Amino acid sequence: MTIQRFDDEDALAAALATRVLEAIVANPELVLGLPTGRTPLAFYRELRERSGDWSKVRTFNLDEFVGVDGDHPGSYRAFMQSELFDHVSIDPANIGMLDGRAPDLKAECRRYEAAIADADGIDLQILGIGANGHIGFNEPADGLCAHTHIAELEQKSREANAQLFGGDWTAVPGRALSMGMATILGARNIVLMATGQEKADAVYQMIEGLITPQVPASFLQVHPRVTVMLDAKAAIRLKPDTAR
Ligand code: PGA
Repeated sequence: MTIQRFDDEDALAAALATRVLEAIVANPELVLGLPTGRTPLAFYRELRERSGDWSKVRTFNLDEFVGVDGDHPGSYRAFMQSELFDHVSIDPANIGMLDGRAPDLKAECRRYEAAIADADGIDLQILGIGANGHIGFNEPADGLCAHTHIAELEQKSREANAQLFGGDWTAVPGRALSMGMATILGARNIVLMATGQEKADAVYQMIEGLITPQVPASFLQVHPRVTVMLDAKAAIRLKPDTAR
């Protein structure tokens, strides 16, 4: 893992936007894996404010709530439209999202895996991390799913999304569709970003702890090309010289 530290989230977001836009220049048909959440907001703002040719870029989002239509303001589809897709020159046909309203959710998961394979895999997967160590909605558990699947959400994860559902965590769906560990680890390059002290323990366990399904992000240790981008608060438990 390569660890990069930044003074604050704005500096981190600017550096990540530069990396993504340079990757698009190098490969206009870049296949990007994208996250939602509070952490990537500054990153998406940077992308909106800078010019880039998104016309051939393809994207796949990590996850989506079950039972929520793409038009619902709480959906990750709506989040992505307003934070990024409505503001860049991406072709709507090139946007990959899971459909949480699909009549057959297992078939929808298989469709998503096939679509990623058809795109020849993900070139650059951007991730956040939950305070509980989750990536996507791969929650801490005795075992993890390899591929895109139906995930039961922890209360903590629903609480973290309450803002999207009027501040009421019980209104947040209890299930989501999520890329699995093999889907994520299949990306050729991975960047995980974390900001704020509430992520410091998860970041420490991900980097310094054993690989365990109780900290799903710890599996990133086995991937050969992972960059972890941290602000000072998220890096507070790491030794100053931790960089691997
Ligand atoms: P957050 O979520 O950015 O809202 O903290 C990150 C995640 O759960 O992956």
